[in-house]
This record gives sequence, structure tokens and C-alpha cells, in this order.
Amino acid sequence: MEDRMRITFDRSLETGDAEIDGQHRELFNRIDQLLASSRERRSREEVEQMLTFLGDYVVHHFAAEERMMAQADYPALEVHRAEHVRFVHEFTLLYREFKAEGPTTLFIIRVGNRVTNWLREHIYRTDRTFVEHQKTRR
Ligand SMILES: [Fe+2]
Repeated sequence: MEDRMRITFDRSLETGDAEIDGQHRELFNRIDQLLASSRERRSREEVEQMLTFLGDYVVHHFAAEERMMAQADYPALEVHRAEHVRFVHEFTLLYREFKAEGPTTLFIIRVGNRVTNWLREHIYRTDRTFVEHQKTRR
């Protein structure tokens, strides 16, 4: 396959928390793998595996963040959690769309744009705010 846009975690997204940053890096890797398998028209089963692999990690990562926030008595926990819930909902819709139509071009565009833009914005604003709050407590 020809050159493609890679989905990468860039340093501007680092929050300064090693655990959170490591998980964000892994999320971007999994999105990149999903997009690679969709674009290269690999089998539907393989794309579905990648999608599930990504979805599982999203859930694991959000739970880890929420645990850290609960431990820190973070006052904005509920607002932050609501953003996670909305994302999981969007992801579920995307999964259903995939089940119905397979890895269409539209599906690839949506993963590439919507999912990554959401993540970037969420990390940049919401996650960083939490890590800043953590730093002031130490
Ligand atoms: Fe978050």
C-alpha cells in the first residue's frame, strides 16, 4: 500500500504523567493499526478484531484515569467522566456502523477524523487539566 497518513501520538499531547501518557500512546498505536487494516482491505474479521482491541483499551484507559481522579478527590471527576461516557457512546455507534456496513471509506474517515480529533482535544484540554491539578497537590 502507498504512503498513508499515520496516526501518531505527538509530544504536544504529553500531560507529564507517565502512566497516562503511556496509555495515550498505546491508544494512538491501536487506532493506527485499525486504520491500517481497514485501508489495506484486510479481512473484515481482522478489522473487527482491531476495532474490539481498540475499544477494550479505551474502556481500560478511561477506568484507569477515573480511578486516579477518584483517589485524588478530583472535583471535576463527574464532568470528566461524562466526556468519557459520550466517547464510549460514539464508539459504540461506530462499531454498529462497522457491523452493518464493514470497513467502508466513510468508516475509515470517521475513525481517522472523529476518533482522533476527539482524543486529541480531550487529552489537550481535559486530561491535562487533571494532571495540572495533580501537580499542585504534590
Ligand atoms: Fe480522560
